[in-house]
Amino acid sequence: MNNFELYNPVNYIFGRGQIAKLAEVTPKNTKILLAYGGGSIFKNGVYDQVKTALAGYDCIEFGGIEPNPRYETLMKAVELIRAENIGFVLAIGGGSVIDGVKFISAAVNYPGDAIEILKQRILFKDASVCVPFGTVLTLPATGSEMNSGAVVTIDATQEKLTLGGSALFPKFSIVDPTVIASLPKRQLQNGVVDAFTHVMEQYLTYPHDAQLQDRIAESILQTLIEISPSVVENPTDYKLASNFVWSATMALNGLIQKGVPSDWATHMIGHELTALYEIDHARTLAIIGPNLYRVMFETKKEKLAQYGQRVWNLTGTPDEIAKAAIDKTVNFFHTMGMKTRISENAENIEGTADFIVQRFEERGWLGLGERQNVTLEKVREIVTLSY
Ligand code: NZQ
Ligand code: ZN
Repeated sequence: MNNFELYNPVNYIFGRGQIAKLAEVTPKNTKILLAYGGGSIFKNGVYDQVKTALAGYDCIEFGGIEPNPRYETLMKAVELIRAENIGFVLAIGGGSVIDGVKFISAAVNYPGDAIEILKQRILFKDASVCVPFGTVLTLPATGSEMNSGAVVTIDATQEKLTLGGSALFPKFSIVDPTVIASLPKRQLQNGVVDAFTHVMEQYLTYPHDAQLQDRIAESILQTLIEISPSVVENPTDYKLASNFVWSATMALNGLIQKGVPSDWATHMIGHELTALYEIDHARTLAIIGPNLYRVMFETKKEKLAQYGQRVWNLTGTPDEIAKAAIDKTVNFFHTMGMKTRISENAENIEGTADFIVQRFEERGWLGLGERQNVTLEKVREIVTLSY
């Protein structure tokens, strides 16, 4: 097992009715910014619950953080925080609002041009320079409620870039599984596929001796496979909803990544598809993931065989199991409503592979993945296979 540090300071508050606990965890002696998205929180009662819990607090609102949050929008919140001297931000929403708030938290006191945070991948380790924030999660998918990473899109250049660092963990996250009742089926399906792929990015690499991490990863995959066909049809079922939400958090709160190699090439390529064509994040993963496993088969086949055997109960030779495991994954994504080709999700896609390869080259991303052997040529092959 590789050496590791496990640091996760998030006060994770889970369960029915927990939004009422906001008053116990939100600081009272400062102005609060309530940050949210396009308005779903007004229709499903979450906004009312937050306002009731924070009665008497000095709150200012900033709405309109879009899916795949935009740098340009977030900078308006940064200006508001500076002008109003706001001391704490509450993100109310899915991964986009929470990620947006992480960027805002980092940008307010950033001494240079805040776009550098994204372009130069500045790592934030000193919490004293970031504005503290908490979250009320409304969409299980990204794990953003319990990790310190974020993804922000620069509209002007159509770039989707990451930021993060140990200073960007939420102070607390309130996670009430009943809030998923109002999610459209498409978003529930997206959540399942995103969480599933997060596990795969940290598990489907090469054999190593971190047995417990493997077993936890496989358990999350099995739980998602078991509950997802029902939860997307019936999100008001508390047993299903609670298991779904917790699985999505566990998929990307850092735990299964400790001591093991990780991949993340599917995400890096997928982000380009969202930046170019606005394809939902999870849908880009369903397109790219299986083709990456095909192109990188030789280096991933042992772990694919373990996955096929333990998660899908497949039998045969290791190579047969490994290949069948990829097909099982694609089938699973199809049952989650995913269309696994770029051309089924966007138009005028000629030149996509060349464009992505050129971008990666300009950024110096010459070798991605757990062995840095997803070269530019492999990226081209994966994207072309995905047309
Ligand atoms: O904006 P509102 O009106 O709130 O509507 C949202 C949005 O339209 C709606 N929604 C959210 N909760 C709802 C709801 N509608 C009804 N009822 C509810 N309870 O759902 C739509 C999608 O929301 P969004 O936040 O964009 O989805 P998601 O949570 O999937 O987040 C996606 C973003 O997170 C990034 C993605 O790249 C993408 O930008 N990711 C963040 C990660 C992280 N921080 O660790 C890791 C992931 O791999 C991912 O990259
Ligand atoms: Zn993801």
